[in-house]
Amino acid sequence: MNLKDLIRKEVLSQTAYPAETLSCRIKLDANENPFTLPPPLKDGIFEAMKKIDLNRYPEPGSHRLRARFAQHYEVERDMLMIGNGSDELIHTLCTAMAGRALDVIVPVPTFAMYKISALNNGHRVIGVPLNTSFDLDLGVILEHLATTKAATLVFLSYPNNPTGNCFNQQKIKTIIEQSPGIVVVDEAYFPFCRKTFLPFLKRYENLVILRTLSKIGLAAMRIGFLIGPPSLIHEVDKVRLPYNLGALSQVAAGFYLDHEAAFLKQAEEITKNREELFDALKQMEGVHPWPSEANFIFFSCDFDVDSVYNNLIEEDILIKNFNAPGIMRNCMRVTVGNHEENEEFLAALNNTIAKVRRVV
Ligand SMILES: Cc1ncc(COP(=O)(O)O)c(C=O)c1O
Repeated sequence: MNLKDLIRKEVLSQTAYPAETLSCRIKLDANENPFTLPPPLKDGIFEAMKKIDLNRYPEPGSHRLRARFAQHYEVERDMLMIGNGSDELIHTLCTAMAGRALDVIVPVPTFAMYKISALNNGHRVIGVPLNTSFDLDLGVILEHLATTKAATLVFLSYPNNPTGNCFNQQKIKTIIEQSPGIVVVDEAYFPFCRKTFLPFLKRYENLVILRTLSKIGLAAMRIGFLIGPPSLIHEVDKVRLPYNLGALSQVAAGFYLDHEAAFLKQAEEITKNREELFDALKQMEGVHPWPSEANFIFFSCDFDVDSVYNNLIEEDILIKNFNAPGIMRNCMRVTVGNHEENEEFLAALNNTIAKVRRVV
């Protein structure tokens, strides 16, 4: 028996999410918050975790948290489910909708997990390249929505990872209005842009919103939210594994609500640092940063970025290299770090660009 014969062909033909395993002193590759919690809060969260009985399963379905976060997002309790990061919720949604001929429409480039989860669940993925302003190509998306015979699921990252911009709001509304299926607006980077589609949940019954606590400082705890119409959440929740959110993560999520101001203060500082980093990148010759509403900056260069990327690693600085033929040629993404990290990154980038230019 060939064990591979037992595996779905879409799984065999794809590669897993390329999570970075390289570790560098300055880590600016994964859009994390560069700040840890201030010491009294860090002590507080670990004190709260000490009370957990490790011999017991966590609360199934995170019921109490669900009620608290529903209130926080000003939606009904049955409109929200909590996942082990929004990654899990993307996957759960794709699983709940598997078994039908589903067309999953994603902009290109965007967050890789939409495509990976869709393919793993046997769906067809339609990538629609962004236009030269990195905005949605509305005509192509609408045409597909109008002509497909399949049910549809559209994923829109708002702001978009990796380009950092928010797509035109009216275009998104038109897609929701003309879509025969579900449209997911993924607001992972909401803390850095403060723009949201949450109020439109009342108007559109095919709109689903994703949020996460990963980008605001709790990436290690894996806490994400799927917010949408109760009839959909009711069904998707059946696919969720019973104890998907560990007890430590449940404590951390509650702690977030009790101390949100401290987290928001960090987001504010990151947003300020982002503007400084953007201005500095803009002044570098041959470097073209794209205005960002997230906690990272996407930029292209007039020279080969593979050697820039490798030189930065030699300096113990890790960013994300997107260099590929076409629209992503010589493009990279840097996460906004703390002030010192940004300064070190800029200095190293300057040095490496000088080296690369000398070689050219
Ligand atoms: C757009 C987007 N959505 C979701 C995620 C994943 O979030 P989580 O850590 O909650 O799984 C990311 C992570 O980079 C992201 O960029």
